[in-house]
Amino acid sequence: MAERVLVTGVLGCLGAWVSHCVLEDGDEVVGFDLGEDTSRLELVLGGGARRVDLVRGDIADVAAVESVLDEREITRVIHLAALQVPSVRANPPLGMQVNVAGTVNVFDAVSRRLGRIPNVTYASSAAVYTADDPSPAPESGGTHPGTLYGVSKLADEGMARVYHAEQGVPSIGLRPYVVYGPGRDQGMTSGPSMAMLAAAKGEPFHIGYSGSAQYDYAPDVARALVMAAHSGVQGAAVYNVPGALADVSEIVASIRSAVPRAQITWDGGPLPFPAALEAVGFDRDVGPFPRTQLAYGVAATVAHFRRTLAA
Ligand SMILES: NC(=O)c1ccc[n+]([C@@H]2O[C@H](COP(=O)([O-])OP(=O)(O)OC[C@H]3O[C@@H](n4cnc5c(N)ncnc54)[C@H](O)[C@@H]3O)[C@@H](O)[C@H]2O)c1
Repeated sequence: MAERVLVTGVLGCLGAWVSHCVLEDGDEVVGFDLGEDTSRLELVLGGGARRVDLVRGDIADVAAVESVLDEREITRVIHLAALQVPSVRANPPLGMQVNVAGTVNVFDAVSRRLGRIPNVTYASSAAVYTADDPSPAPESGGTHPGTLYGVSKLADEGMARVYHAEQGVPSIGLRPYVVYGPGRDQGMTSGPSMAMLAAAKGEPFHIGYSGSAQYDYAPDVARALVMAAHSGVQGAAVYNVPGALADVSEIVASIRSAVPRAQITWDGGPLPFPAALEAVGFDRDVGPFPRTQLAYGVAATVAHFRRTLAA
C-alpha cells in the first residue's frame, strides 16, 4: 500500500525535491506549509505539483499538526519547516518558535501515533558547528553553534534524543551544509544556486562569501531524507551529509563550464563553519548516500533553469 508522507516546509527547496522523490516512489505527499508561494514546487515538479495535497498551517500550532496527521492518515513524517539563518537573526523569538516549538510539536504528535507513524525524519544543519571546530568536523561533534539558528537545530537534535529515550520515538536528523540546486533561493548560502540561475538568464551575479565548504545537491539530500524515512534505524541518529568539498572559485568554474560567459564575482569572509564535515554514519546505518558529482550537479541545475526559462 502507498505510504502517505507528510512533508512539512513543502514549499521550500528541499520540500519540493522530497515531494519529487516521494511521488517518484509511487507514494503520496501531503505538504504542510504556512506559505502560499508554490513556485518551487512548480519549478521542481512541473505539472506534477498538482499531485501534492497542500495543507496550509503553522508548524508552531500543535493542533494543526495533529489534525493533519489524523485527517490525512499520515504514515511517515519528513519535517523540514524552519526559518533559516537570516530570518532567525531578524526575528529570534519567531525563529525559535518555528524551529524549536515547531519541532517539539512534530515529535510530540508522532509520539502519540507510533502505531501508524514509526519514526520522524527531520532536517538539522551543519550550523550546529562553528569555524572553531576542526575540519573535517567529527560527526559526533557540533555542540557550540555560533548562531541562534544553529542553537535551534541543536535543540531539535536534543529533543529527538529525549523523545527516543522517554517515548521511544526513533528519528533520523540530517545536517545539510550548502544545499544547491533548482529551488534554492533563500538563506545565507543560496548565492551559488542564485548564480546558476543568473548564468542561465545571462545576468551577472555576486556571491557574498568565499572559501571552502561542502556542497550538497538538493535532489541527493531529498533522496537521502526519503531513504531515512523508510529505514528501520532505531535510536535518535544524526548524520552529516557527504557533500562535495569545494572552494567558491571551483563552484564558479563549474558554472562557467556550463555557461562560458557567466559573469560571477565573489568576496567576503568564509562561512562560519568548518570547511569539511566527517560523514560516515548514513552510509553505515541507512545505505549509500546519493553522491552526484559537483560538476554534474551544477550542469544539471543550469540545464533545469534553462529549460524552465525557455518554457
Ligand atoms: N538549504 C540549506 O542549505 C540547508 C542547510 C542545512 C539545513 N537546512 C534545513 O533544511 C530544511 C529545508 O531547507 P530549505 O532550503 O528547503 O528551506 P526553505 O527556507 O526553502 O523552506 C522552508 C519552508 O518552511 C516553511 N515554513 C516556515 N515557517 C513555517 C511555519 N511556521 N509553519 C509551516 N511552514 C513554515 C516556509 O514557508 C518554507 O516553505 C530546513 O529545516 C533548513 O533549516 C537547509
